[in-house]
Amino acid sequence: MERIPLAIVGCGGMGHRHLFGLAELHRNDLSPFDLVGACDPVTENAESLAGQAEQLLGKRPTVVKNLAELEGLGVAAVDITTTPRYHHTLGVEAIERNWHAMIEKPVGLTVRAANRIQKAAKASDRVISVAENYRRDPINRLAKALLDGGVIGDPRYMIHNTSGGGNLMTISVWRHQKDQSGVLLDVGVHFADIMEYFLGDIESVYAQMRLYEPTRYNPAALGAESTSNPAGVYGKAQRAMPAEFQATADDAIYATINFKNGAVGQYIENHAEHGQGLWIRQIHGSKGSMDMPSDRSGRILKLTLDRTHVVDNESILDLVPDFRLDEATAKLFGGDRLWRYEFPFELTDRKLIAVEYADFGLGIQGKRPVEVDLAQGSRSVAVSYAMMESGAAGGKLLSIDDVLAEKVTAYQQDIDEGLGIA
Ligand SMILES: NC(=O)c1ccc[n+]([C@@H]2O[C@H](COP(=O)([O-])OP(=O)(O)OC[C@H]3O[C@@H](n4cnc5c(N)ncnc54)[C@H](O)[C@@H]3O)[C@@H](O)[C@H]2O)c1
Repeated sequence: MERIPLAIVGCGGMGHRHLFGLAELHRNDLSPFDLVGACDPVTENAESLAGQAEQLLGKRPTVVKNLAELEGLGVAAVDITTTPRYHHTLGVEAIERNWHAMIEKPVGLTVRAANRIQKAAKASDRVISVAENYRRDPINRLAKALLDGGVIGDPRYMIHNTSGGGNLMTISVWRHQKDQSGVLLDVGVHFADIMEYFLGDIESVYAQMRLYEPTRYNPAALGAESTSNPAGVYGKAQRAMPAEFQATADDAIYATINFKNGAVGQYIENHAEHGQGLWIRQIHGSKGSMDMPSDRSGRILKLTLDRTHVVDNESILDLVPDFRLDEATAKLFGGDRLWRYEFPFELTDRKLIAVEYADFGLGIQGKRPVEVDLAQGSRSVAVSYAMMESGAAGGKLLSIDDVLAEKVTAYQQDIDEGLGIA
């Protein structure tokens, strides 16, 4: 099989996690890629990734500072894992250079930024995939099979409530800056994708929004242990960030969500929780309900049918006789009909990123369309901003189509100005 020469563009926390995912794919004999480049204007980050790639893949990719320098390496595909504000410029440049691209979520920093990539992609035959990992979790695949199999009947409502964080920094300073991708976009796009994955297109939303904690604290800067360091890759960067800083991005949103199929969603995303943390993801239908565990936990999904009949063990699989995970997921997670799994978070994280890479590879080879395409990735950006636009407008009902069509842009206006695309 001809290998696909690939470069990772953006060698920070997620760039390293993508490398670990690529190595996991490689270890399972599923990788069509050959990592030839590590690209980051911060050479130290690119060198770190290249060094770890050498250990994990047996070959050191060339370190470069920008996409132009990748030309000499014969690159055919790039994996864009930079901070969100560069996704659209790098995405468009990659397409113009005739490369396939996998782009981390949020695919664009604003709806307009995402639409810029869509415009370039429409004039090209390159494969663009959005690296959205949550839906690829085997437990979410099981939930989707149960829904599609009609096990809980017609979906009526969904509760999606998360809270935590207090006044602490979530991973990095940029996640609290509106012009860099605030946390409601950074995390919100994952949940927007999950909601549409389960229940189909969202038609409209209305919301209340708050910025509760304008001052955020980073304990790692003072030598304390970080409370927000997924996969353990952010420690060094967090120690160099300020101990205290001003947040400009809103940190809580409370929304009602109207799905096209008639179901209604109740959404809370609060990153300023000082009380009990929340995790509730439930879908209730005409025959029963599903109570879902947090993404990447491998924990058990609980079904309640006819009000009293609880199914929360292996017999749940009897209800979905045709449920099968795809080849890569099954090989990586150790079975094609899983109802739970148990790996350390770091390993689960790698496996799901490996699944993303497998999907991207099959898309490039023309074997099947990528699962989360630009249109879906852009919808997630639009759903998140529809909530924020509504919150900024005092709770106005907004249609996703209008937000996608850039008819509602007031909240995003200053971000677009900063990007030079207003
Ligand atoms: N799917 C997930 O679970 C998940 C988790 C974490 C982050 N992410 C996403 O990954 C992306 C990166 O997040 P992160 O946590 O790694 O951020 P980070 O700040 O740790 O790393 C960003 C890196 O991009 C580099 N960079 C900036 N401009 C660049 C350019 N023009 N060319 C090349 N490199 C450039 C920076 O120097 C830095 O090394 C974000 O879009 C974020 O939302 C996704």
